[in-house]
Amino acid sequence: MDRFTEFDAWSVGHNYEQYMGRWSRQLAGRFLDWLEPPRGADWLDIGCGTGALTGAILERAAPRSILALDPSADFVAYARRAVGDDRASFIVGDATALPATASVDVAAAALVLNFVPDRVAALRQTQRVLKPGGMLAFYVWDYPRGGMEMIDVFWKAAAEIDPHAAALDEALRFPFCTDAGLAALCRDAGLAAPDIETIEIDTEFADFEAFWHPFTLGAGPAPGYCTKLPAEAREALRQRLAKRLGNGPIRLAARAWAVKARR
Ligand SMILES: C[S@@+](CC[C@H](N)C(=O)[O-])C[C@H]1O[C@@H](n2cnc3c(N)ncnc32)[C@H](O)[C@@H]1O
Repeated sequence: MDRFTEFDAWSVGHNYEQYMGRWSRQLAGRFLDWLEPPRGADWLDIGCGTGALTGAILERAAPRSILALDPSADFVAYARRAVGDDRASFIVGDATALPATASVDVAAAALVLNFVPDRVAALRQTQRVLKPGGMLAFYVWDYPRGGMEMIDVFWKAAAEIDPHAAALDEALRFPFCTDAGLAALCRDAGLAAPDIETIEIDTEFADFEAFWHPFTLGAGPAPGYCTKLPAEAREALRQRLAKRLGNGPIRLAARAWAVKARR
């Protein structure tokens, strides 16, 4: 574990849902509209977390099957319970060591690839499990340009009171999450002619406490950092953010880059 991943806390599904799962769920709908996947397909959901994308695929894409995997046993158990559909099965697994027998029409990863240290290996593995002509697709937040404003405003405020926080800012950790960066990644992974597009939702909070509370639950990089702060520093951060955002309602843009390519 390095000084960045120390705070990437992927456990307690209920807490992750409040922080990010609910937004990823909304984004997943937009992503599937854009993707226009075939109906009756066999899917792989890589880094399924609490099941946001799996659930959206079941609702919108009439899949034949979905194999969903994640390294977090806690998230896998949560997703299995929450989704509860015979077409979906859930296993603990890693993007860089996909099951040897997997063979799917569509492989997708939602908000995952930036957290995988060897992204090229993950994309190569993904191509291996695709049937000929199969579709590989993923989305990541537009961190470098501050497109996920909820996260961006948090890290910018944190850096003002804690010099160590600047390096943890996901805008700096994941500079490849731009159209040019993603095109380069696809090239390195041998993916021809990827289609790269932005998709956007709004994150809305009734008041400041609704914005702040999920950061205190510890699930995800920013909440992982927030909960490890000494109480005094956490309160200083809360006050700084409250001053910046006001008492609400708070409406912030959340923009992602979506990528699709054929094998
Ligand atoms: C931001 S969450 C996204 C979860 C879910 N896909 C969603 O959209 O809500 C990032 C997920 O990536 C998973 N992850 C981290 N490293 C991974 C790896 N090497 N392979 C697969 N998944 C990984 C984490 O366990 C976590 O569930």
